Amino acid sequence: MQQNAEIMTPFGIEIDLETGAMPKATNHIKRNASDMRGYYQDADALERLIAAADPLHYEVFEHPVPEVPGHLMYCISKLYPGTVGRECFMTKGHYHTISETAEIYLCLRGEGQMVMKTAAGRFDAKPMRRGMMVYVPPLWAHRSVNTGNEPLVSFCVYPADAGHNYGDIEVEGFPSRVFLIDGEVVIR
Ligand code: F6R
Ligand code: ZN
Repeated sequence: MQQNAEIMTPFGIEIDLETGAMPKATNHIKRNASDMRGYYQDADALERLIAAADPLHYEVFEHPVPEVPGHLMYCISKLYPGTVGRECFMTKGHYHTISETAEIYLCLRGEGQMVMKTAAGRFDAKPMRRGMMVYVPPLWAHRSVNTGNEPLVSFCVYPADAGHNYGDIEVEGFPSRVFLIDGEVVIR
């Protein structure tokens, strides 16, 4: 058997499938409203939110593995509910740096949408709720959006060397946004 990768000792860790809590997570990424400047349509509404409380927007919990080919990175993504104006709280969204890498999101809790786009201009959105798995194919930028009133929690798995390219989305944005208008989810 050909063996290029270093032998790593197998491990198991606990994930609470109701809350997404991963007690052994060692990496904790936090994004507050003030980290989201430039992402929402209503920049004034975002500034008001920042001035009022600068609430936590989303968190990612990781228990890292080597970021080399062959390994699978996995994490819990927890996006809080809320709106900026009428636009639903969302993650920044990114392509993978190695753009030919896919990702699986298994939703554990909450309600939302996974919005996706390609550099060539295709757009798609798939609903997220407990038990839904969204497959993000290679080449699709992806952003999760919380349309409900509790945290949107997903377990994500992707190639460990994929990397994150935020810059292109900062420039391009997504062709559609997700709003809550009179209690209805509107994607436009
Ligand atoms: C990893 C991935 C998720 C997101 C997380 C936060 O490839 O897609 O774990 O990183 O949902 O979103 P971003 O990274 O767009 O701020
Ligand atoms: Zn990703």
